[in-house]
Parts: sequence; C-alpha cells; structure tokens
Amino acid sequence: MSKDTIGYQANLADDDGKPAFGDGQASYGRVVGDGVDTTHGAILYLDAISVSFDGFKALNALTLDIGVGELRCIIGPNGAGKTTMMDVITGKTRPDSGTVFFGQTIDLTKLSEPQIARAGIGRKFQRPTVFENHTVYENIELAMKTDKRVKPTLFAKLSGEQHDAIDAMLELVKLEGSASRSAGLLSHGQKQWLEIGMLLIQEPQLLLLDEPVAGMTDSETQRTAELLNELRGKHSMMVVEHDMDFVTAIAGTGKVTVLHEGSVLAEGRMHEVQAHERVIEVYLGR
Ligand SMILES: Nc1ncnc2c1ncn2[C@@H]1O[C@H](COP(=O)(O)OP(=O)(O)O)[C@@H](O)[C@H]1O
Ligand SMILES: [Mg+2]
Repeated sequence: MSKDTIGYQANLADDDGKPAFGDGQASYGRVVGDGVDTTHGAILYLDAISVSFDGFKALNALTLDIGVGELRCIIGPNGAGKTTMMDVITGKTRPDSGTVFFGQTIDLTKLSEPQIARAGIGRKFQRPTVFENHTVYENIELAMKTDKRVKPTLFAKLSGEQHDAIDAMLELVKLEGSASRSAGLLSHGQKQWLEIGMLLIQEPQLLLLDEPVAGMTDSETQRTAELLNELRGKHSMMVVEHDMDFVTAIAGTGKVTVLHEGSVLAEGRMHEVQAHERVIEVYLGR
C-alpha cells in the first residue's frame, strides 16, 4: 500500500486487519493510486486552456490546480465555462491550446475518454444515469464489476469482502435501507447518491461533480453536503454548483474558484470570494 493511501480501509478491513480488496491496495478511499505522480502536491493542473466554439471562447487561458485530497468548489454564472472545463478534463472536448496534467506526468490531452476514466478520473454528470431496472445493490455491484482495474469478474460470484464493500458504500451514500429496491423507484436525490456510490466504488483518484444538488429537495441537498463533507480529505474532488448555501456548507475553509467568461475571476475562501467586488458585479449581472 502506498504511503499516500488514506481512507476507509479501516472500516472495510477484514478481521485480520487487511484491506477488503486483497492485492495490497486500499479497499476504498484511495486518494492517490499507482501511476499518478503527485509528488508536487497537486492531482490536476490546467494550464492556459482555451476552447472556442465557432469563434466564441468558452474557456480563455484557464489556469487552475487541484491539490491532492482537496474538495474544490467551482462557482460562476451560467455560461462561465464550468461544464466545458469538465469536458476538457475528461477528454470529451479537446482544448485549442493549453495543457491538462493528471499528476506530474499524465498528459490528459493525449488520452481518450475511456483511458482518462481508467486512469482514475470519475465524473458525475448533472442528470443521474443509473440502471433503473436493477436494484440499488445491483447498481453498485455492476459498477464494481466494470471497474477496469479489477480482474474481469462480471459473471463471477462476489467475495464476502466485496459484499462488505458494497454494504459499506450503501451506508455511506445513505441508501442502506433501499438496497433491494429498484433504482427506478428512487427519488431524484437518491439516484444522485446512488450514482456517486457507483463512482466511488471504483476508487477514482479525482471525482468531478457537475451540479450534484440541482433538482434536489432541501433535505436531500443537506444530506449531500454531509456526504461530501465525509469524503473530504479522502478523495480529491471538484464540485461545480450554483446553490450558494450548499457551497457554503461544503467549502469549509477550503478554496472556492469563481469562473467567469472562461477564466478564473477570483479564488479564495467562500467569504472572501463572496465579498469580492467583481464577483458581486458578475452575479448581479452588471
Ligand atoms: N458544444 C458546444 N457548442 C457550442 N457552444 C457551446 C458548447 N458547449 C458549451 N458552449 C458554450 O460555451 C459557453 C460555456 O458553457 P458551459 O461550459 O456549459 O458553461 P457553464 O457550465 O459554466 O454554465 C456557453 O456560452 C455555451 O453556450
Ligand atoms: Mg454547466
């Protein structure tokens, strides 16, 4: 196990204290895995990224770093380029110029979308995408079995350790009472949690969440904030969100980045960016 490894393996460990998923890797909550060189403390580096759509600059020399284990909130008005930024990180959109590095050595602009996912970047799109006709439990199980880093086990029976890991994940995403329900019957918020669980079971080294609480009820939003606060420090995460109360609840003393017209307008603690004159102007549409 790498010395960078921190996380939940204590919770999921077998009685002998070994991590639940054999092969010396942390069972869950691995911040940094093999192949990602984070010796300089950052997991992601965007440098001078520009993207144009028909001459319109959606991203304009965007430069941004995410630290290992950081929970970075990204805010900004509609059209600021937040989703385009995630599209660039995940290989869906190629930048016209600039570089994107995952750790020190992995140039993401040279990799395909599946290669980027396999390298350890998980993305939660705005709309939930779960297997509606399968149970909640089966959804997590399927996600676990499609994890490219694990031996092909699609038709194999789960080990006791794997069952334990799924149970622990269901508890984490607050769905332990719904394990045998059909995912299609869940509320919108529960589907979002399920999808987050499906991503987490694959142990992403960086998790990108695009407006995770859009369409959630207030109590679902609050529970999502609790979940992200539990994940703080165990995962490197980038969370794009409009809901300012939610951002306040998860930002803590961490950094919040404000995007505007495809570049960083301000960066700092939540109360600092909220007091920033240009940020106020942009949000008021002046
Ligand atoms: N595929 C695309 N084709 C043309 N314009 C696009 C495309 N994707 C995004 N845009 C434009 O780029 C700008 C930034 O969009 P987006 O990244 O979705 O912003 P945000 O997520 O911050 O609301 C918007 O003006 C949007 O209309
Ligand atoms: Mg968006």
